[in-house]
Amino acid sequence: MKNISKVAILGGGGRTGKYLVKQLLEIGFSVKLLLRNPDNFTIQNSRIEIIKGDAIDEESIGLLLQDCQAVISTIGQRPGEPMVASQATKNILNAMKNHGVQRYVLLAGLNIDTPFDKKSPKTIMATDWMKTNFPEIQKDRQLTYDLLTKSNVDWTQVRVPLIVFSDESSEISVSLEDCLGDKISAFDISKFLVKEMVESNYNKQSPFISAI
Ligand SMILES: NC(=O)c1ccc[n+]([C@@H]2O[C@H](COP(=O)([O-])OP(=O)(O)OC[C@H]3O[C@@H](n4cnc5c(N)ncnc54)[C@H](OP(=O)(O)O)[C@@H]3O)[C@@H](O)[C@H]2O)c1
Repeated sequence: MKNISKVAILGGGGRTGKYLVKQLLEIGFSVKLLLRNPDNFTIQNSRIEIIKGDAIDEESIGLLLQDCQAVISTIGQRPGEPMVASQATKNILNAMKNHGVQRYVLLAGLNIDTPFDKKSPKTIMATDWMKTNFPEIQKDRQLTYDLLTKSNVDWTQVRVPLIVFSDESSEISVSLEDCLGDKISAFDISKFLVKEMVESNYNKQSPFISAI
């Protein structure tokens, strides 16, 4: 794998995304962000580059990935907007091929099913709740997983329960079968996403992580 110095980020202006951007900068990475409204983004650093654009637009993602060696997405569905997860992933996979990028790490909820799951009744209940209340989002997220499994890139899809937006840090559990806790902080998610980007401990897998 190529050494990673610049990371393309989708969702970097979102609640979890901001923690991720801060951590990447603190460690010394350069970041390139795709933002629809750059004026709302307040983190300032000479190692931040911003592309104004939408994740469902293929050209914007192409520009985003140029000169980057890895992609991390914490993108989330906004109500009333076209489904974003699968289209963004289609665009990212295309752009990765065009720009020779091999590493893609993305964040998701518990609701995606994989053949390796042994979900507890509680996790099944959370999954079913999404299926009943947000069927379109659920379908789009599941489709995203299918696109990843058919791709040739080194992807890791990280599944999390309720996110607490804080700098709190605790020990976390990681499981490929079930979510073992109820919540996790945005700080600990970011730490895991960055570590995973670099180390690829869960390449082509979809681990659940949560606070112990
Ligand atoms: N919040 C939770 O408790 C929770 C629990 C489990 C899993 N998750 C998952 O974790 C991820 C992050 O959650 P979050 O709560 O931090 O998200 P968030 O604050 O809602 O942020 C979502 C980000 O996605 C961006 N985005 C949405 N559509 C876009 C598009 N078409 N083009 C470009 N950017 C787009 C938003 O940009 P704009 O500002 O331009 O809209 C925003 O920066 C999501 O995938 C979510 O499903 C969240």
